[in-house]
Amino acid sequence: MSAPLLQTRDLQLAFGAVVVADHIDFSLSEGERLAVIGQNGAGKTTFINICTGLIRPQSGQVFFEGKEVTGMSPRAIALRGMVRSFQLPQLFTEHSVRDCVRIAAAGKRNKLGLWMPLASAIDNAEVEHVLEMVGLADRAEELSGALPEGQRKLLDIAMALIMKPRLLILDEPTSGVSSDEKHGLMATIMKALDQQKVSAIFVEHDVDIVSHYSTRVAAWIAGRIAADGVPAQVLTDPEIRKNVIGE
Ligand SMILES: Nc1ncnc2c1ncn2[C@@H]1O[C@H](COP(=O)(O)OP(=O)(O)O)[C@@H](O)[C@H]1O
Ligand SMILES: [Mg+2]
Repeated sequence: MSAPLLQTRDLQLAFGAVVVADHIDFSLSEGERLAVIGQNGAGKTTFINICTGLIRPQSGQVFFEGKEVTGMSPRAIALRGMVRSFQLPQLFTEHSVRDCVRIAAAGKRNKLGLWMPLASAIDNAEVEHVLEMVGLADRAEELSGALPEGQRKLLDIAMALIMKPRLLILDEPTSGVSSDEKHGLMATIMKALDQQKVSAIFVEHDVDIVSHYSTRVAAWIAGRIAADGVPAQVLTDPEIRKNVIGE
């Protein structure tokens, strides 16, 4: 059997007295769509930050495709194929939608992390393909800063997809988006991920979105995974309904 796509062993981290990663053993297989749920402060973002190299755990290990990545830089981890969606930096809002994707593409190519000169390094057909996939092809010339929130999120996804990830991690992709638009946004994201055969982890609070778009749900309580299984099981678990979903 091949190694899991992502695996953590006994991750531990505390900020002072607050335990945010409490002996987390976790494993994700290729093709999964994992929804992460949990109250604010439960440690969801911290878990993502540890996996993607933004924070070092105090102890424990992270493996991607069977190779240890604990302590590697976020960039080195992203180049191996574990990518988290960008929170579109302010700097980019004065660039066109297309140029944002080009900048992300150049960032992958250039080991120094310098963007210029852009033109030589980029596969333009790939850029257009990614813009098509997220439905932004006809807004490619517009300034990214002028996009409504839902489309900014899709631009984030496009910038992540141009990195050709094996695993995309999305921290609250539907936050700031009206409930009417959430389903359309998630449907577009998931279709693009299917086309590119990208596995996904997404943090989401809306139970309806979780049950529609995940194949598996992990519920975080105080730095530990309190429940992990198929959506129908986790979302109906009495402890989870009481302590995570808040009913
Ligand atoms: N850099 C930090 N320094 C101190 N405390 C932090 C830091 N980052 C997060 N925390 C705390 O860790 C806990 C978990 O935060 P976080 O992982 O962001 O939770 P979630 O994403 O589930 O809302 C919170 O109590 C938060 O205040
Ligand atoms: Mg968070």
